[in-house]
Amino acid sequence: MAVRVDVEFGAKDAFKAVKRGDLIVVVDVLRCTSSIVSALANGAKAVIPTETLKEAYRLSEQRPDFLLAGERKGHKLRGFDLGNSPLEFVQEAVEGKTVIMTTTSGTHALVRCRRAEHVLVGAFLNAAAVAKKAAEIAQKEKVNVSFVLAGEEDLFSLEDFLCAGAIASEFPIEGVDFSDEALAAVLGFERVKGALSEYVGKSRHAKHLFELGFGRDVEFSCMLNRFEIVPVYVDGKVTLIR
Ligand code: MLT
Repeated sequence: MAVRVDVEFGAKDAFKAVKRGDLIVVVDVLRCTSSIVSALANGAKAVIPTETLKEAYRLSEQRPDFLLAGERKGHKLRGFDLGNSPLEFVQEAVEGKTVIMTTTSGTHALVRCRRAEHVLVGAFLNAAAVAKKAAEIAQKEKVNVSFVLAGEEDLFSLEDFLCAGAIASEFPIEGVDFSDEALAAVLGFERVKGALSEYVGKSRHAKHLFELGFGRDVEFSCMLNRFEIVPVYVDGKVTLIR
């Protein structure tokens, strides 16, 4: 059976992928999923995404041993241990810790996918590893694959689209049936992969991050296949697939 690969543009359409019963890869390159990948690659035990600030503060009150991380309008929040820069999630900060994370769009997209059987967390940083695992699960469980792109508050975002293309272009299987959107993402990625940070740097959200002084986050988030890890979202927590 050919594996169908689809793309949903924005958290608001995540329910369509969930309803289809697809394996979902959530992508928010700038910066939520890049931060989650960084945190887990540097030894964090788990990341707990929350949709609202209120929920994040409540959970943090119950578990003061957990780190509190995230942003609104790009900035770290009052009482938070960390912001949403992937460069903050270094080993010294996160090793052995559980991180509660709330961001404007990325954690929202993840939580919207919580009822799906398989939810993986993708970024340029772990594109090949996610592709391999998604293809393996899709073939074994006979399910299709959907990318849910967080975008920026549900708007189309170039960086997430290109990242879906980066992951889809690495699918190590014969007989992939790409939707028009998925094929466009693969073609787009193939066109710019030699100058990824240059093109991602032209995106709306990257420009905003440059203005805020987070240019290094954009550079770092564009590092293709820096980590060979696959984060999976199960029972409200993101951990590494064993
Ligand atoms: C988000 O989830 O909306 C982003 O990660 C925002 C950001 O760049 O911090």
